[in-house]
Amino acid sequence: MPPLDDARPRRTFAVISHPDAGKSTLTEALALHARVISEAGAVHGKAGRRGTVSDWMEIERSRGISISSTALQFAYRDHVVNLVDTPGHADFSEDTYRVLAAVDAAVMLVDAAKGLEPQTLKLFQVCAHRGIPVITVINKWDRPGLDPLELIDEIEREIKLKPTPLTWPVGIAGDFHGVLDRRTGRFIQYTRTAGGAKRAPERHLDPDDALVAAGDDWTTAQEAHDLLASDGADHDQDSFLAGTTTPVLFASALLNFGVAQLLDMLLELAPAPGATTTKDGGLRPVDSDFSAFVFKVQAGTDTAHRDRLAYARVCSGVFERGMVVTHAATGRPFTTKYAQTVFGRDRTSVEVALPGDVVGLVNASALRVGDTIYAGEPVEYPPIASFAPEFFATARATDTGRYKQFRRGIEQLDQEGVVQVLRSELRGDQAPVLAAVGLMQFEVVQVRMASEFMAPIRLDRLDYTVARRTTKEDAPHLQGLRGTEVLERSDGAHLALFTDAWRAQAVRRDHPDLVLEPLPASAR
Ligand code: G4P
Repeated sequence: MPPLDDARPRRTFAVISHPDAGKSTLTEALALHARVISEAGAVHGKAGRRGTVSDWMEIERSRGISISSTALQFAYRDHVVNLVDTPGHADFSEDTYRVLAAVDAAVMLVDAAKGLEPQTLKLFQVCAHRGIPVITVINKWDRPGLDPLELIDEIEREIKLKPTPLTWPVGIAGDFHGVLDRRTGRFIQYTRTAGGAKRAPERHLDPDDALVAAGDDWTTAQEAHDLLASDGADHDQDSFLAGTTTPVLFASALLNFGVAQLLDMLLELAPAPGATTTKDGGLRPVDSDFSAFVFKVQAGTDTAHRDRLAYARVCSGVFERGMVVTHAATGRPFTTKYAQTVFGRDRTSVEVALPGDVVGLVNASALRVGDTIYAGEPVEYPPIASFAPEFFATARATDTGRYKQFRRGIEQLDQEGVVQVLRSELRGDQAPVLAAVGLMQFEVVQVRMASEFMAPIRLDRLDYTVARRTTKEDAPHLQGLRGTEVLERSDGAHLALFTDAWRAQAVRRDHPDLVLEPLPASAR
């Protein structure tokens, strides 16, 4: 790993994609290019190879998906790149939303044979909502796929951003020799390495030599390039940053084709960390005193380190390990003696971190998702919106003798944001209601309660599907109406649960004086 304490400019991004589009493979290829690892396969988890950087739970391995979120930091050219991992499964959209709060740009990874898939679209919408500029990468060009112009049309139609290809494939999908670099007009020719395990060598050829090397494929690529140019599909930095266009690159993550171009474009086009909007609507410039916000709390990342990590994105100033910061929510001092970065199972102490970097704070039991920490001039960042839950279940310890462990476990998982925990006097504390955006969250709770907190639980599904925010004052008026129940979330919010949207509307119509506000919609 490169030293983390240099002052090189930062680029902080996440990859958004549908499961199987090649996110793990691309992460690995990026790390390979940055020389974090010497051979691809070292961090990829499939086919009996070692676990991916973010593989850590059995449930995750057995399903081949990535639930946890870690940040991968590496030096590339004169920059430091932070790749914040996003959970791959739809049911983890809450986590993904939080991760996207911590990045300055996103790479939208599209499978060349499948085009835009549902999960990609939903994640894209979160980016659009947050104003995060998106670079599109069409992956798996080494395999048969759709026509490139068709893919471009589809992207424009579906996400309403104008695609502005930076490169254009030379050779149809499945016959990938290289790309036409649309800004220089040159041919970047790739050479395969055995199994794609090493960086793919490239040659940069002038058009005349390209014609000799690639023949008709070069001519076809040039024609497409002209067509795109006449349609105004050329990169424009202002429209990219304003979120009206998306630069497009063609790649094969597996063969390491196009990966160097992606890194170069991230450095050149993705925005540097900028001033962050504060809770009161002001702006905290990057060069002011240190501040950061927590976007992820995670425990039990592996058996060797059974502790709790709060991941914070540095927004301003310089973080130095050991500094005493203030926890904005409580006003209490917080010592950052144990600050780490996580790369797979390896941890390294973070001595210094700059805006855009992610710091893992160990055993930060007071820190919750959305919390601000700062030094010097006080600041507080707005909370990260949580999604409207759609699944509800009561949780009970199967062994009543382990109630203490049960309580501790539920509290921990609540603070990590694994599920939302709702309570009411009526129901008491023995059987809190768990609320989730996706059903798989329940599965994670069950596995972790049993294996980590030694308190196996029984979940009983409730037939509510809709939640609305209400107030403490209105709660008694809603409680007891048919198909309605009011519970308090651990952050103090009062949620009215309804069996269905129709009932929620009926109650709203019959009681127009009561507060019933929709919660942010989920990205699913
Ligand atoms: P994910 O994290 O987005 O879920 O996807 P992942 O990287 O695990 O890739 C999903 C499958 O697609 C893997 O195949 C992977 O090898 C393959 N893949 C990824 N990028 C490319 C590419 O550029 N070209 C081709 N041809 N395939 C690609 P698998 O069979 O599930 O696993 P494995 O046995 O290959 O490891």
